[in-house]
Amino acid sequence: MLLKLLFFGLVTYASAAVKLQEVFSWNVLDWNYPDEYLKQESILTGAFIPENALPVGIERWKNKLFVTVPRWRPGIPATLNYIPLDAPHEQSPKLNAYPSYKGNELGNCETGLTTVYRIKADKCDRLWVLDVGTYGYDPNVTNLCPYALNVYDLNTDTRIRRYVFRPEDILPSTFIANIALDEGATCDDTFAYFSDELGYGLIAYSWQENRSWRFSHSYFMPDPLVGDFNIAGLNFQWGAEGIFGITASPVGSDGFRTLYFSPLSSHTEFSVSTRILRDERKVKEGSFNDFKVVGVRGPNGHTTSKVMDDSGVELFNLIDQNSIGCWSSSLPHKPQNIGVVDKDDVGLVFPSDVKIDEDKNVWVISDRMPVFLEAELDYSDINFRIYTAPLYNLIQGTVCEPSSQFIQTSSPMPMSNTRTVGQTPLYGLSLKAPSTPVQTSYFSSFPLNAQKIKSYNPASFSVTPKLAFLDMPRQTSYSDITSNKAGVSFFNKTPWWSKINY
Ligand SMILES: *[C@@H]1O[C@H](CO)[C@@H](O)[C@H](O)[C@H]1NC(C)=O
Ligand SMILES: *[C@@H]1O[C@H](CO)[C@@H](O)[C@H](O)[C@H]1NC(C)=O
Repeated sequence: MLLKLLFFGLVTYASAAVKLQEVFSWNVLDWNYPDEYLKQESILTGAFIPENALPVGIERWKNKLFVTVPRWRPGIPATLNYIPLDAPHEQSPKLNAYPSYKGNELGNCETGLTTVYRIKADKCDRLWVLDVGTYGYDPNVTNLCPYALNVYDLNTDTRIRRYVFRPEDILPSTFIANIALDEGATCDDTFAYFSDELGYGLIAYSWQENRSWRFSHSYFMPDPLVGDFNIAGLNFQWGAEGIFGITASPVGSDGFRTLYFSPLSSHTEFSVSTRILRDERKVKEGSFNDFKVVGVRGPNGHTTSKVMDDSGVELFNLIDQNSIGCWSSSLPHKPQNIGVVDKDDVGLVFPSDVKIDEDKNVWVISDRMPVFLEAELDYSDINFRIYTAPLYNLIQGTVCEPSSQFIQTSSPMPMSNTRTVGQTPLYGLSLKAPSTPVQTSYFSSFPLNAQKIKSYNPASFSVTPKLAFLDMPRQTSYSDITSNKAGVSFFNKTPWWSKINY
């Protein structure tokens, strides 16, 4: 990946998350150890290097919030972890290895886990975890273990299955970071799908048959025209990155779900019926025309993580926009039907994963990943955040809200990069009345947000945080910010955000 440096010039406004509530945040991650002596020893021997840990995936199941940390650098105690949600609230809780430290042993292919990205819990209280087996990061990657699916029984915290992908499923270029589940009528009738970003494939796994197969399709490939990224003041190219975010729809009238997918270097959404994916014969039979183009999100529409709930509303991260987007699958997929449920130019820099739990709460983790990978994180600043909000609160006032849909089915409005206060859809103008935050959620969230605003820019916000909070959101889109470039180097010790002149 080629890194070019640029600088945010004068920026008049920033936005802060309004609906998403920050529940946890960290400058640097930390772990609970059985005792302090072991921890100190791990730090001394380099078995634990806190600054090397970047959280990338989350999942909530009952009283556990799972957090994954890839072993891109040395010193990561465990790649699969959880935070107990029934413990007294701490703003920066230490992570706990799941199911144990031993079960996270680096390079122990049989009973350990080496590197895990995104994970998924199912209705049968199982946690689906793909161990990609790699240690290090491009170009210093070693494949310590084969790609292996590990499934845990969450009620007993035991691993109930390990399945090693067939050699035919994996190419030399394979990189798999995402998983989607396709749950049938029984626990046995469950399929998992895995997107191969750099090998341009989609792997299907049948729980019942304990077997996998691999689809190829040109829709898994990147769009070469949109491989340039501007995130957190960094300009870089992820032009080879193919199929990435995947999620399954509710069960359709034909009894099958639809798998939605997007390449990372792309602004387009595609789909395929799980009727095709569940059938290994379709690999050879020729299923090219069963893969569909769903529509485009619009400019600055790169995404790496998506999830659809039972009502057919899809949420996804918009990594160029520091925001979470939504689309209601009952509407045509086009820019004016894409909404933004929340945006934060500091807190949501690289919202790496988005999940919806059984209680219809949305969970988001942000981690400033491009800064970690392409530059260096500032550990005197908050780098990682976990947010939550009820799904309905998030989509309220957006084009994805169920009751607003009839308004949106006709008269597409012209595209515009300019938004005024309160307008929700990102890429086009909305026919819907401007949304205002609900009073109750405003007051309950205010202390949290006011504190957050103060913490990153005291000069601008300490006097009238309330006003700032009301006026700031959604006044400027990220494309407005990035279009204003000047030539100052990123690499000095001043934190990256302080260069943004509010
Ligand atoms: C790769 O590893 C070598 C040797 O340990 C090191 O010098 C180099 O900086 C590493 N490169 C990256 C990109 O991490
Ligand atoms: C599933 O397949 C794997 C091969 O990767 C094998 O080791 C395992 O025993 C199988 N499990 C079941 C339940 O058949």
